[in-house]
Parts: sequence; C-alpha cells; structure tokens
Amino acid sequence: MPMSSAPDLAFSRPCFGIEEEEAAALAIRSRWVVGGPSLAEFEKLFAKACGAENAVGVSSWTTGAFLLLKALGIGPGDEVIVPSLTFIASVNVIVHAGATPVFVDIDPATFNVDPNDVERKITPKTRAILPVDQIGLPCDIDRFLALAAAKNLILIQDAACSFGSKFRGMPVGSHSPYSVFSLHARKVITTGEGGMIVTNDSELSGKLRRLRHQGMSLSDYQRHASSPTTFESYPEIGYNFRITDVQAAIGVAQIRKFAAFLARRQAIAQAYLSGLKNHTIVVAPSVPQHVTPNWQSFQVRVRDGKSTTRNALMEHFYRRGVATRRGVMASHLEEPYRHMNARLPHTEAVAASSLQLPIFPEMMDADVERVLNVLSTFAN
Ligand SMILES: Cc1ncc(COP(=O)(O)O)c(C=O)c1O
Repeated sequence: MPMSSAPDLAFSRPCFGIEEEEAAALAIRSRWVVGGPSLAEFEKLFAKACGAENAVGVSSWTTGAFLLLKALGIGPGDEVIVPSLTFIASVNVIVHAGATPVFVDIDPATFNVDPNDVERKITPKTRAILPVDQIGLPCDIDRFLALAAAKNLILIQDAACSFGSKFRGMPVGSHSPYSVFSLHARKVITTGEGGMIVTNDSELSGKLRRLRHQGMSLSDYQRHASSPTTFESYPEIGYNFRITDVQAAIGVAQIRKFAAFLARRQAIAQAYLSGLKNHTIVVAPSVPQHVTPNWQSFQVRVRDGKSTTRNALMEHFYRRGVATRRGVMASHLEEPYRHMNARLPHTEAVAASSLQLPIFPEMMDADVERVLNVLSTFAN
C-alpha cells in the first residue's frame, strides 16, 4: 500500500453538477439574489419532502434554532434538555437564547439520546427537549412526543443531519412540532451554509419569516409585487438570518437530485455494514427496525473503547491516503461546559472510541473496498 502525505480519498464531498451551476447562474441573472422566488420554491419543496406544511429558510441550523427558541419564548430561567454527544452548536444555541442546557446521556448502540435519561433529568424548570438525530439516524421521536405531551414541554428536533431519513416510514420533519435542518456542506443536501425550520404551525412560520428579516412585516418580494405601493412596518425586533436566493436555487437543484444521492449513500452504507459484520476491531452503528437513516455519516466504534486505538486507527487510514474524522464530540467535556461536571459514561466512551469513515454520493465501489481493506490491514 503506497504511503501518501495527504489523503486522496476525501471524507465527505458535496455533490454538485451542472444543475447547481445553472441554477445559481439563473438566480444571479434574474437579479433576485435574496428574498425572491428561488427561496419560495426551495421552502415549498423542502416542506413537501418533510411531509410538513411550512419550511422557513435561514442562514444556518444555528440561527434557525436560535430564532425558534426566541420565537417560542424560551430563555432565562428555562432548562433545555440536550445530549452532550452532538456538534456543540446544539448546546451553544441554548446558551445564546439565555436558557440553561441540561446534558443527557445516549444509547451507545445508536449514538442517540436515551429517553430514560431525559425523563430522569426533567425538573420544574424544564421548558424544552432538544433531541438530536445523530449521524442522520432518527432519534426515538415517539418517546419524546409522549414525554413532551405528558410533561407539557416543547419538543424541538435537531434534524441538522437527518433530511430524508425516515421514522416509521415517515420523513423526519413530519413527526415533531418543530424540526431544524442544516444545509452545511457536510449535509446530504447543501447550499454551502444554510438551514431550514420545519413546522405545521403557519402562524409561527410567518413570525419566523419576519424575525429572520429584522421583524419586517412584508417581504421584499411581497412589496415588489404589491399594487398600489405598500410600506412595510417593523412590529418586532428581528435579526438578519436570511439565506440568499443563490443558495436557495442551488438547494432546489439539490433536492431534485436527492433521491439518487440517498440511494447511493444507502448502497455505500450497506457495503460497509456487510464488510464490518463481526469485525474484530470496529462495531458498526445499530439501526432500529423502524428507522431508515439517510447515512449522512458512517460512524463506527473501536471495540476496546480506547482513544489510543481510535487515534492509531485514524493515523493508519491517513497514512494510506484515506481521510477519516473522529466521531461526534462530547460537548460537556469542552471548556465552556466543563464546570457543569456532567457525568455521562456512554457519551464519554463513544466520543473517545468512535470515528467516521468516508461516505458521499460520488464515492465509488472501489473506494468503499479500499476503506475496508485498509481496516483489515490494521486488524492484521
Ligand atoms: C447535530 C447538529 N446540530 C447542529 C449543527 C449546526 O449546523 P449549522 O452549521 O448549519 O449551524 C450541526 C452541524 O454539523 C449538527 O451536526
């Protein structure tokens, strides 16, 4: 096996073609580069794909989740239950809204939030639960819906990674009252940066659309089309969390190709799953029967659970030209949250022993085989 200085097999790659180039060019030529028809179309297609009434485009998952927390009145004095095993944005956003994150542990088999631990951590101050669909694998949303109803809590699904995944045959976005998606470059469809808030609450969607645009009562596009001339007002204090029409046009092109992306990701994941069956070094994620993941990431755990072995394995891949990433982080071990002294044994074990293998639609069968072969050479 030749040694190389930098990996030639990427870990993740956005899948763009002539369709995205042309869509972006059309938006530019139209001069509607923000708040225009491409955004309206993208929102409509996105909501439909999620089986929901409304999708509100924003500049990222982070700004979308922040906007939602604000719009729902979650803030100082409120506790929001969140897994620590997540990209730290899920936790930061709670702090930005002025609320207090309360960390919960995960099920190490699926990397997803443990509903029993959520139940244990509910206090009189709990206002919301923010479960995460880690690596694109939907969390146990039925349990969270039941808990939220029983305890009168707001349920916001962190669906940053799970566009196109299904739970009991229905798309993520169709179960929760509120779901927030990311359109960052490492997601299954991407606009570079971007996010979508999905909900059946049309009144709230209107509010979110105003708040993303400084609280403006009428969008630019509505004003452009109105006759006689109408003037906007600013009844609420808002933000600039807009996504551009150039991004939205790319998003429309991505959504149109999404079925093919998904099929390819699933084929790669199946090849990994069969190659890793009873593997001596790593354990593949377990997928509950009622869940169909989009395989946004393919995360494995090293069997002995030691970070030294995980790091050595990543180095082994790197030296053979294959890029990998460490698995999802443990947010409670990062500097801003260490003082909370959370004890989350499964989270800590998974964060120390997991890594993610390359997966993206343009990956060839030979690439998948290569990854599995490199893994075997480590095992030997
Ligand atoms: C679970 C999760 N939540 C939130 C985010 C933040 O998304 P964004 O970068 O669009 O703000 C990410 C991004 O990777 C994520 O994986």
